Amino acid sequence: MQLAVLRERHPEERRVALSPSHVKSLIETGWDVRVESGAGGHAGWSDADYQHAGAKIESDRVALLEEARCVVKVRPPSLGPDGGNEVDGLPEGSILVSFLSPGTPEELPERLAARRISALAMERIPRTTRAQRMDALSSQATAAGYRAVLLAATHLPRFFPMLTTAAGTIRPARVTVLGAGVAGLQAIATARRLGAVVQGYDIRAAAAEQVRSLGATFLEEEEEELPEGAEAEGGYARALEESERDRQLSFLGRHLPKADVIITTAQIPGRAAPVLVTRSMVEAMTPGSVVMDLAGETGGNCELSVAGQVVVHEGVTILAPVDLPSGLAQHTSQMLGTNVSALLALLVHDGELKLDLEDDIIDHVLVTHEGSVRISG
Ligand code: NAI
Repeated sequence: MQLAVLRERHPEERRVALSPSHVKSLIETGWDVRVESGAGGHAGWSDADYQHAGAKIESDRVALLEEARCVVKVRPPSLGPDGGNEVDGLPEGSILVSFLSPGTPEELPERLAARRISALAMERIPRTTRAQRMDALSSQATAAGYRAVLLAATHLPRFFPMLTTAAGTIRPARVTVLGAGVAGLQAIATARRLGAVVQGYDIRAAAAEQVRSLGATFLEEEEEELPEGAEAEGGYARALEESERDRQLSFLGRHLPKADVIITTAQIPGRAAPVLVTRSMVEAMTPGSVVMDLAGETGGNCELSVAGQVVVHEGVTILAPVDLPSGLAQHTSQMLGTNVSALLALLVHDGELKLDLEDDIIDHVLVTHEGSVRISG
């Protein structure tokens, strides 16, 4: 069972899909692991570290992939021209484990199917108890929430904590976090650790308790302000009706402008991100304030954000970074390596590589198989 670990070619990607310690454990379970030279460089692991773990290092990608039955990487394989055409380099009939979205060309699944690749999408891991160890979206969102706060703090021309000094007393920053899922809760915890006064907001009533347990207040006027039954299947939120959306925007419009920092993390799986921060809300904020939009890649939670760019509008800085987990490459690679290894364990039966379509996790993540696209969109 030959497994190839690819070096990421995207200029902003610093993570690697498996750390040396994961490689060591996989070899102990029967995998023959080959690592592309330099794969772990940005995450702090040299080729020698992988060699010590028992992997063979290969600098020629063609040779690396020649006998590979399974290929792991972080980003979706590129279709070129940036980063070259990685899809056509994958061995026909092999298994691919990586993220397959967002931000990928629509034709990626067809192109993978055309090469008879069985592609397992890490972003499709269900949020169930059995799949918890494989939940790559959560592990990476934890890092995104943490870094979002640190980045916002460096753009804010004000302190986060309250300070009492001979030069006067500084009031603490007011941070509002919209969307209290994995990224949002970590953002709340991080902002609290930095001494800010933090408010959290979500449309799922269940989030209120979690927000409060982190020492933040939950932004609400009256219980009935939350849309009814906003919690959909799997603990995710449902999309709001137009009237609910109008009510929400008018509610947020009364509260958001008071914040020094707004961090937005609202998402609904498979849909464009809901707009929660409008142009007029930004214009009502104090100059110097910061909006940090984590949903830039899926359309943005702020009307004015541009994915991957910094926009300054009437003195308010709006950031929509798309590479937050990559900036913490060592720990995010370590966490992702645990997620990927747990999924790889499901592929081995009595020492043989086999995709068990009866397994609900495999069934959920297997996007292409035997020349067809099983799951689209
Ligand atoms: P999650 O699904 O755990 O949380 C999203 C939260 O948004 C849920 O609690 C949901 O109830 C809430 N929500 C949905 N619609 C809402 C609305 N209209 N109003 C208020 N709340 C609403 O998602 P997770 O894992 O925390 O990810 C959050 C965001 O961060 C996603 O957009 C994800 O793509 C993004 N992300 C961005 C990264 C980056 O580098 N920019 C890296 C990792 C994640």
